Amino acid sequence: MKHKKILVTGGAGFIGSHLVDELIKLGNDVTVIDDLSTGKLKNLNKKAKFIKLNLGSASAPKVLRPILKNVSYVFHLATIPRIQHCNEHPVECHSANVNGTLNLLSACVKNKQIKKFILASTCMVYGNPAHLTISEDAQNNPQTMYGAQKCMQEIYVNIFTKLYGLPSVVLRYFGVYGTKRHSETGSYPNVAAAFSRDKKTKNKIFIYGDGKQSRDMVHVFDIVRATIMAMNSEFYGGEVFNIGTGKPVTVNEIAKYYNCPIEHQDARPHDIRRCTADTKKTKKLLHWEPRISFDQGIRGYLEEQSL
Ligand SMILES: NC(=O)c1ccc[n+]([C@@H]2O[C@H](COP(=O)([O-])OP(=O)(O)OC[C@H]3O[C@@H](n4cnc5c(N)ncnc54)[C@H](O)[C@@H]3O)[C@@H](O)[C@H]2O)c1
Repeated sequence: MKHKKILVTGGAGFIGSHLVDELIKLGNDVTVIDDLSTGKLKNLNKKAKFIKLNLGSASAPKVLRPILKNVSYVFHLATIPRIQHCNEHPVECHSANVNGTLNLLSACVKNKQIKKFILASTCMVYGNPAHLTISEDAQNNPQTMYGAQKCMQEIYVNIFTKLYGLPSVVLRYFGVYGTKRHSETGSYPNVAAAFSRDKKTKNKIFIYGDGKQSRDMVHVFDIVRATIMAMNSEFYGGEVFNIGTGKPVTVNEIAKYYNCPIEHQDARPHDIRRCTADTKKTKKLLHWEPRISFDQGIRGYLEEQSL
């Protein structure tokens, strides 16, 4: 596993920065591409080579070519992951999320030495599933621009694998939480980050609707482990894996950990009622299971922020 040349897009973001830390710890040579639209330089591991680039920009294809020379593995996390923002600015977000992915994939297929392209996708591609747990073969039914754009990323990865033989794996992360959660100011519907922000700034937290909506919350360290396991796995044909715990936790249950006043507000139209991962395929084929329980993870997260 030592000294692989790896590219991580979105490596200054929440999940990407943790992934970069771990890849560097394992002895790899990591380059990060990020446009710092939601990411921050302070998140970035100093040992990573950093290139500031908007993957959706017109200059991206030309800039990408030399960067990808000799790269063996590409982790694609760069995305604007903000539900409300993507709904309000679909064209701008399409450019970053979809054109950016297309530019990257096109550059990757010109570099035959690439051993695997790993896409960070999301459970938001499923929309509002009819069943409590959802397996990878359920029909995609996104309810938001962000969900639709993540579906497009998946479709492009799949087609590049089928048409041009680009080895790939797709990981559908569920609700990710944990340290360095800088996107507390965005509108990604991660309740843990939003509750932390509101407790710090308003000394109360806001629950939209009845709070009985559930989430499948995965600690970022477990996400990073799954992502690296996908790189090392025997899968190359665009296989899709749910990366979740399979254990739903309601927004009301999460709120209890914050131990502060709660204000109820109207339910948001785009809010997903429930979405829990069916983890059978991931356990059986990727041999991954989360190690950090929600209770343990959220307590550590709150302690770190002195909340
Ligand atoms: N956080 C979650 O709960 C969650 C859940 C499911 C899937 N995901 C996926 O995981 C990935 C990382 O999410 P995150 O939570 O770390 O978000 P984040 O906003 O912290 O990280 C995304 C990074 O991508 C960069 N970026 C965005 N558009 C770019 C562009 N056009 N060119 C270059 N860089 C660009 C941002 O500056 C940022 O550093 C995303 O692909 C997201 O869809 C996240």
